[in-house]
Amino acid sequence: MAQLTILCYPDARLHTVAKPVHAVDTRIRSLIADMLETMYEAKGIGLAATQVNVHERLVLVDVSEERNEPMVLINPQITWASAEKQVGEEGCLSVPGIYDGVERSLAIKVQALDGEGRLREIAAEGLLAVCIQHEMDHLMGKVFVEYLSPLKRNRIKTKMLKVQRDEARGNTTT
Ligand code: NI
Repeated sequence: MAQLTILCYPDARLHTVAKPVHAVDTRIRSLIADMLETMYEAKGIGLAATQVNVHERLVLVDVSEERNEPMVLINPQITWASAEKQVGEEGCLSVPGIYDGVERSLAIKVQALDGEGRLREIAAEGLLAVCIQHEMDHLMGKVFVEYLSPLKRNRIKTKMLKVQRDEARGNTTT
């Protein structure tokens, strides 16, 4: 297994629309293992392939307390979403340190292949539903800050670019 580099907003590659996974083969299983390691190391509850610069429809989520219930969703499709919505605070490994409210469906049903290539239907609500919707947005090239006002988004963009510049400087002097 290997840890992968997570793309940081406003990296343009985060806006790539992912293509379907053609086969759940050795390459995909190895990618899943690397993405799991990356997600747990970064203490995230979800990670989309887009975030590690692989533009295929694959996301991982784990909202369990113990961090030992990874869920793999390959070629996920939302088959039902509740009309009832709720605003919850979200964050993203690609936008470190930024949290803001996003409105999402309270409950969803999703069809997806699991890590063994078996078709599953998952009924999700609460945090799991939020997390799956957030990760599936990544596959469409959408980062959660795009739900915020242009003013807020621009502030975040400026802040992220400054952090990245400072980090780059730090790396060259140490
Ligand atoms: Ni995210």
